[in-house]
Amino acid sequence: MTLVLNDVTVSRGVGPVISHVSLEVKPGDIVALVGPNGAGKTSLLESLSGVIRPSAGSIVMNDLDITKISRRRRSTAGLQHVEQGRMIFPSLTVRENLRLTAKTKADIDESLALFPELEKRINNPTVLLSGGEQQMVVLARAFAAKPKYLLLDEMSLGLAPVVFMRLLPVIQQIAKQGVGVLLVEQFAHLALKIASDAMVITSGKVSYHGTPKKLLSDEDLLRKSYMG
Ligand SMILES: Nc1ncnc2c1ncn2[C@@H]1O[C@H](COP(=O)(O)OP(=O)(O)OP(=O)(O)O)[C@@H](O)[C@H]1O
Ligand SMILES: [Mg+2]
Repeated sequence: MTLVLNDVTVSRGVGPVISHVSLEVKPGDIVALVGPNGAGKTSLLESLSGVIRPSAGSIVMNDLDITKISRRRRSTAGLQHVEQGRMIFPSLTVRENLRLTAKTKADIDESLALFPELEKRINNPTVLLSGGEQQMVVLARAFAAKPKYLLLDEMSLGLAPVVFMRLLPVIQQIAKQGVGVLLVEQFAHLALKIASDAMVITSGKVSYHGTPKKLLSDEDLLRKSYMG
């Protein structure tokens, strides 16, 4: 039971933006993926979820080779991707947003239990919610799909760190329920605090793979992971 990226190369435009990258996410893991702007983090997540196809290498989810299957089938098989900058559907209510991915009422109730503060907003159009609340809806909606693996791309974009911090214990709670999480974050310090494994990607290549603790204690390496 693992989500595996096996020696994957992704090409865009003129050349490779991901070169020979391998990584593993197990159920219950939170793998933090950090790196400077343009390093290839989003491209890596997009190759996992099927937005783009790798030019070499393979992707395996729980022993099923998903390299060549469609995005929709990967999602049905249990892979949920929260894309960078993708928000809620603003005119839909919180409940309607959750219904988009939930199969049953129990799925909706379980995802609302992650964020009790959303209950009183359940029939409000999400456009009326704060940025932080909207990201709660995004995360709750991804969880309502009952994923086996969750790919989260910069959920903190446009949020103050203190607002983003509200999401962190919930991501931990989701992982505790056996979901494997791959967490891409600009606030690397915060992401590394809840991560079980850490990876730095620079210019499309893995420049660090190890414990979050070691990365947090290495100022030089950490600075490079922000600045390149
Ligand atoms: N649709 C696209 N077409 C062509 N090149 C692209 C496309 N999207 C991204 N790129 C290029 O691929 C490289 C990796 O970009 P990517 O968005 O994966 O990086 P990132 O690490 O997610 O960056 P950021 O921190 O800014 O989100 C960059 O050089 C970028 O310019
Ligand atoms: Mg990105």
